[in-house]
Amino acid sequence: MTWFANHQWYVAAYGEEVGRELLARTVCGEPLVLFRTEDGAAVALADRCVHRRYPLSKSRLEGDRIICGYHGFTYDAGGRCVSVPGQQRIPRTARVGAYPVVEQDSFVWVFIGDPARADAAAIPRAPWLADPGYATVRGMEPLAARYELLVDNLMDLSHETYLHGGYIGTPEVAETPISTEVDEDRNIVYVSRHMDDAECPPFYARSTGIEGRIVRWQDIEYRPPCLYVLHSRIAPAGVLPAADGSDPHGFHVEVVYAVTPETEHSTYDFWSVARDFAQDDADVTNYLRESNRTVVLQDVVALDVLEQVIAAEPAGYQELSINIDTGALAARRMLQRLTEAGVREAVPVS
Ligand code: FES
Ligand SMILES: [Fe+2]
Repeated sequence: MTWFANHQWYVAAYGEEVGRELLARTVCGEPLVLFRTEDGAAVALADRCVHRRYPLSKSRLEGDRIICGYHGFTYDAGGRCVSVPGQQRIPRTARVGAYPVVEQDSFVWVFIGDPARADAAAIPRAPWLADPGYATVRGMEPLAARYELLVDNLMDLSHETYLHGGYIGTPEVAETPISTEVDEDRNIVYVSRHMDDAECPPFYARSTGIEGRIVRWQDIEYRPPCLYVLHSRIAPAGVLPAADGSDPHGFHVEVVYAVTPETEHSTYDFWSVARDFAQDDADVTNYLRESNRTVVLQDVVALDVLEQVIAAEPAGYQELSINIDTGALAARRMLQRLTEAGVREAVPVS
């Protein structure tokens, strides 16, 4: 049994992180080197020289070729070895894996699994992140915890009240029941919590300027394994969208996470916050960047602790789940199903 869903797309980096410097990232236990060709295309290759395994990310990029920093094997952007030292003949097996890459919505997606199965149309979208109508802040925090803990965390926002009080948590989040829906055909888990008369936490009071109580809707859409979106709607108490669905008096924030397993026990936590108001207000931008990073780091501290707890406990520990866990449990089941499907359909690598 493997520990991640194979034959799936994962976010390896933000587009802006990939350039003419070689970038090392490990996705689902596979070490990758990322760079951009002279034409601007993002490339992901296996980060191990076929000769003696030296990381290509510690090597040199010349034009669109990587020259291994140990003995000089040279690879093109497709992973094919085009030169070896001291001989004319290049061994037939001298190539490193090249991963399918798609740049979309500010992310660099890579396909982990059989490249023949990579279908770019299957990549879930987060269009707000590259939409000029939205102002976006973002970051990435490494987690020393398994990715399932981050999925649990994001699917159950009742923890905002306790872990993120003073930032995004208020009593109503934990008190308001959720509704959960699962779309088995499209592999999506939806969790909604609609608070119609709630305290406004500082995160939204300072960014929207609303004084007093609010309508606060949290609509989660998780597309396992990697993409999580929280559609957050904030408005003064009593202000609802119009009958035709338009919502000129609502404030909309799209909170997007890409949950990328690095190893079995570590994770990249890519977070973005896109808003459709005060787009040009640098103070709001700075405030949201700092507050969201603080909130993410509060989660990082908690999840890193949980990883240690789980690593130290005897096998067979039984958790207790309650109503607030419905969404997280649905997400776990879907992840499990994708993971099992990835193993069953795996094709041997020749
Ligand atoms: S390890 Fe790369 S050339 Fe020897
Ligand atoms: Fe959190």
